[in-house]
Amino acid sequence: MEIVILDGVDAVDRTAADIVERTVRTTQKSTPVLGLATGSTPVGTYRELARRHRDEGLSFSHCRAFLLDEYIGLARSAEQSYFSFIRENFVDHVDLDDAAVFSPDGEAHDIAAEAQRYDAAIAEAGGIDVQILGIGTDGHIGFNEPGSSLRSRTRVKTLTEQTRTDNARFFDSPDAVPHHVLTQGLATIDEARHLVLIATGESKAEAVAAAVEGPLSAHCPASVIQWHPHVSVLLDDAAASSLALAEYYRYAYANKPRWQHL
Ligand code: GLP
Repeated sequence: MEIVILDGVDAVDRTAADIVERTVRTTQKSTPVLGLATGSTPVGTYRELARRHRDEGLSFSHCRAFLLDEYIGLARSAEQSYFSFIRENFVDHVDLDDAAVFSPDGEAHDIAAEAQRYDAAIAEAGGIDVQILGIGTDGHIGFNEPGSSLRSRTRVKTLTEQTRTDNARFFDSPDAVPHHVLTQGLATIDEARHLVLIATGESKAEAVAAAVEGPLSAHCPASVIQWHPHVSVLLDDAAASSLALAEYYRYAYANKPRWQHL
């Protein structure tokens, strides 16, 4: 794990965009596969990638993308669906083919079969090259709430009241937030080649500390990233404020060999 504490949200967005850009430009695969997170945290990264597309010719036309999760029972056309969210905040602003952007179908008749199909589709695409992750205040990644099996695959989860309250800002009323979701499992996420977890703001500080310095535990699902051989955790000062070893992470990053990428 490489924990990178950056000077402000813009630097976090730029650094995450740098990682995605490098993957898109340099991966040996003819079709790089991006793992896209929703939620408000990665929106600045998507904005920066869209700017690079517009101003610097960064192209996504040869890429595919998979979302982490989706609400169950919400129409894809609803603005709160992650299907719509990712289009509004990223896909519609770049040259990524809409048909190459996949997400779990929260309206499927057979949700269990849909979950299996989704994992199979990721595998068939050759796996995810770079996976952007946010983190919930309760330590969830994707929608893997506390108690999620560390080896879970894509499946149904029930949201905690904390997550429903956190996400109520996107809905007309707190009651409108669905209770159930389809989410990539922790093992599914763990198979991506590079995990990039982004967190900004004080409200994420405790969850970040539990994820990277706490025990590997289903109680903090994001702690599963401690298993992974290639993880970049990009934080602003506020999100890093509960880390015991913050000074060491700053020192290590400041002295990182120039030839070594994130
Ligand atoms: C949401 C999403 C996660 C996201 C997290 C944090 O519920 N399912 O993928 O990382 O919660 O969201 P935000 O970035 O808005 O704080």
